[in-house]
Amino acid sequence: MPCETLVKHNVKGLMIKILTVLGARPQFIKASVVSRAIQDNSNMDEKIIHTGQHYDTNMSSIFFDEMEIPKPDYQLKIKGDDHGSMTGNIMIDMEPIIKKEAPNAVIVYGDTNTTLAAALVSKKLHLPLIHIEAGLRSYNMKMPEEINRIVTDRISDICFCPTQLAYDNLVKENYGEKLELVGDVMYDATLFYAELSEKRSTIIKDNDLAENEFVLCTVHRAENTDSKERLEEIFNAINHITKDKKVVLPLHPRTQKMLKQFGIKTEALVIDPVGYFDMQTLIKNCSVVMTDSGGLQKESYFYNKFCITLRDETEWVELVDNGYNFITGANGKTIIFETEKAIGTKFESSDNLYGDGTSAQKIVNIIDKNI
Ligand code: UD1
Ligand code: UDP
Repeated sequence: MPCETLVKHNVKGLMIKILTVLGARPQFIKASVVSRAIQDNSNMDEKIIHTGQHYDTNMSSIFFDEMEIPKPDYQLKIKGDDHGSMTGNIMIDMEPIIKKEAPNAVIVYGDTNTTLAAALVSKKLHLPLIHIEAGLRSYNMKMPEEINRIVTDRISDICFCPTQLAYDNLVKENYGEKLELVGDVMYDATLFYAELSEKRSTIIKDNDLAENEFVLCTVHRAENTDSKERLEEIFNAINHITKDKKVVLPLHPRTQKMLKQFGIKTEALVIDPVGYFDMQTLIKNCSVVMTDSGGLQKESYFYNKFCITLRDETEWVELVDNGYNFITGANGKTIIFETEKAIGTKFESSDNLYGDGTSAQKIVNIIDKNI
């Protein structure tokens, strides 16, 4: 039964009840600043569902603790390693909660299976759907994230775009009237937590690292981890780079599993996934970033570091166009060449590609006016 039979839609003067659905590491980071802005708005109340897509302490609760994200009101424990079972199980477990809560709007972030599942359930209950980090396109339909974001954008009522390009992508897809260009909430988070990260993190000392003397690397994207050929080529390049520079690799559990399964060895300094404060400190102190992460590509730019992107394309095209980001795919020679070149080049930028650090506030103001 659609929720409009259950919900009294917001009448001005009544509290706006927001339901936020989260599940994966980058979503906790994005939500940290938006949830704070919601808490600061006296017209709004937020409930949070954590789907349990990410569940290890250092993939999940460490972010809630460090960043003081409100504890989830509902903690699901979804099962399912495949896309269908994961997405389906999130939908099954979430539907009764959304019906019971009958919010005035549902917020989803990014492009994970959690995003898609929450979007589908909410929209079929006729609830206003808000997509934060909308409009990104890799134009690679083999990426699960591309499917998730296209469907979510299509059925959302408000699409908050982080960049001009994301906005333009959705204009091209005729979504004109539901678009808002607000900047990137990850930039808000970097600014908000910069001082605390510096104060609290001991990662540099703990691992005997020196400023500008190490490369920071993360790898977790399915297209890399699930292909023995690509993963081997990437790790051969990493091993080559370790001859000149330490490579620090906070290793995603998915990659840990696949390296073992394929019998691939690494000379990098492998550490468990780290919390937000440690990660910000690693980015700030490294010489160059190598990654297939979406978020880390932008954070490299926030900290004036070049990023070597271990993918065949990126959604963050403005970083490539402006010469901050180099796409290497899984080509070992290109990875080594671009990394060594970046290590020897001074990073300079004077632009502001991701807004002014007030995206979360802008988002909450727009929700307040429109829901
Ligand atoms: C997911 C998102 C991806 C995002 C990434 C952020 C989808 C389709 N993918 O990818 O867009 O960039 O999160 O990190 O939603 N695992 C653990 N412990 C955890 C979490 C995961 O062991 O806390 C292992 C499990 O074996 C799991 C595998 O990692 O099966 C993959 O996790 P999953 O959430 O499916 O995908 P990610 O690669 O994390
Ligand atoms: N991150 C972190 N610890 C880690 C690896 C990543 O805090 O060990 C942060 C990173 O700084 C960024 C976010 O997680 O803020 C990116 O998440 P991830 O790479 O998992 O996902 P993506 O952005 O690719 O969807």
